[in-house]
Amino acid sequence: MRFILNGKAVDVRAHPMKRLLDVLREDCALTGTKEGCGEGECGACTVLLDGQPVNACLVPFGQIRGARVTTIEGIRGRRALQAAFIKEGATQCGLCTPGLIVAASTLSPRATLDEVRASLAGNICRCTGYGAIYRAIARAGRVGSKRRAAAPGRKARAS
Ligand code: FES
Ligand code: FES
Repeated sequence: MRFILNGKAVDVRAHPMKRLLDVLREDCALTGTKEGCGEGECGACTVLLDGQPVNACLVPFGQIRGARVTTIEGIRGRRALQAAFIKEGATQCGLCTPGLIVAASTLSPRATLDEVRASLAGNICRCTGYGAIYRAIARAGRVGSKRRAAAPGRKARAS
């Protein structure tokens, strides 16, 4: 099946009902995309499909013919976000981190913290606490500077 993977045209053979998550990891050797729940609940497997964040564990490979798929390996601005996550201590086991960075990459640089919370509501971290994650995104220049100092802790996270 032909599609665009991280900006390059590819032709990958896999069963159309195979999960996109597994195709990426097993057939494309892109293991940056992680599996957490496998049920669409945690966001660890987040990739961009035609520019929109999706849970790759819920997408059958047959649906991506001709689409643009972007994984953590191909995210624009990834290095700045990764460096910010390290600096802020926003990652521990790291399982959630690629998905968070992929989701955060879609945010406007002018996004408010409320918008950040809403955008990341589908990305669950059970280790770190969300304050560090929000500070990391702010550090990477993706949150309006006016509200950076007010980055909240886990209790303020959108559900
Ligand atoms: S592994 Fe896909 S949402 Fe959890
Ligand atoms: S760092 Fe472990 S789940 Fe987020």
